[in-house]
Amino acid sequence: MKILVTGGAGYIGSHTVVELQNTGHNVVVIDNLSNSKEIALQRVSQITNKPIDFYNIDIRDFNALDKLLDKYSFDCCIHFAGLKAVGESVQKPLDYYDNNVGGTVTLLRALNKHNCKNIIFSSSACVYGNPKIIPITEECPKGLCTNPYGQTKHIIEEIMKDLQKCDSDWNIVLLRYFNPIGAHKSGTIGEDPNGIPNNLMPFITQVAVGKRPELNVFGDDYDTHDGTGVRDYIHVVDLARGHVSALKAIENKCGLEIFNLGTGNGYSVLDVVHTFEKVNNLKIPYVIKPRRAGDVPTCYSNADKAKKVLGWSAQFNLEDMCRDSWNWQKNNPNGYDE
Ligand code: NAD
Ligand code: WQD
Repeated sequence: MKILVTGGAGYIGSHTVVELQNTGHNVVVIDNLSNSKEIALQRVSQITNKPIDFYNIDIRDFNALDKLLDKYSFDCCIHFAGLKAVGESVQKPLDYYDNNVGGTVTLLRALNKHNCKNIIFSSSACVYGNPKIIPITEECPKGLCTNPYGQTKHIIEEIMKDLQKCDSDWNIVLLRYFNPIGAHKSGTIGEDPNGIPNNLMPFITQVAVGKRPELNVFGDDYDTHDGTGVRDYIHVVDLARGHVSALKAIENKCGLEIFNLGTGNGYSVLDVVHTFEKVNNLKIPYVIKPRRAGDVPTCYSNADKAKKVLGWSAQFNLEDMCRDSWNWQKNNPNGYDE
């Protein structure tokens, strides 16, 4: 298929472009490089040995999208572009609504105009809020998102549902990602956060590489097996392959479908720390700190629906994720900055 990938220079987008190209899809990437670097796409090209058509376009720029869609005829759009930092979204809520919600509406308008009515959207497990059911199925009611970032995902999901309800020519897949970590096995592409990492794994790898003295573990008094928060970590390559599988639903004219992309396993913060130490033969010093505001104790998926409908399930385990995260970080101590 001919696929338009928005946000394709980012962490999940770049890994997905690898899997798309490796399975014979034809990809055009747009990205405004607000949270990524073009070199990531050069690295993707080196992995797949295929060139990438890249355009520096902001999804809020209707005219630029219109021009691009005049030039190419796409079978599907995979929409990653968006801002994703929970803390920043609390500081700058309007930027998040403008970029994520406004940008998505503009993108949908442009696709609609050019009769490309197939889209796969990067949603998030955060739409479940403090989940009512564990493991979380797609039917689990959506919860109160405690931050503007999470709200943008919830609102975009609702906009897309309305769009599909009003025009059944649209096929829309909402993918709710759990906690992507890891990196491509080459160690040449990976997660490259700006400043102090908010998420657990990039913080651990920065401690391992000597950039930070110790990990802060946010809370050890949750009702979990060791008191620390439990999450469903998923290897980014598995996640990327989930998008290739989701194209099948689009081809089968699915209407609107929602899938969790997770492994179905929950691991605590200390499980991750100890697995990272074991597989990489390293010590990660840590200190216990108070709970982080807005954190839920436990969040992991029931991943059965994606297996049943798409034939997709995660192949990599936590050891693979810890090994590949470290392989990326140790080969690129400063991320994409050389
Ligand atoms: P990322 O920041 O690495 O990638 C997002 C990309 O979108 C970046 O390259 C950025 O430059 C680009 N972008 C942002 N705004 C844009 C705009 N207006 N126009 C064009 N490009 C724009 O993030 P990621 O981790 O790869 O996440 C990809 C998507 O998945 C995001 O929508 C994110 O919200 C969602 N998601 C991520 C996670 C996670 O933990 N990483 C979990 C659930 C959902
Ligand atoms: C995981 C666990 C922390 C950092 C966030 C977003 C969510 C999604 C993924 C996009 C928790 C603990 C973390 C640290 C720690 N993104 N932790 N020390 O919070 O599950 O989800 O990223 O959609 O929307 O909210 O992921 O990696 O931040 O935290 O102890 O320095 O690690 O408390 O238990 P989270 P995370």
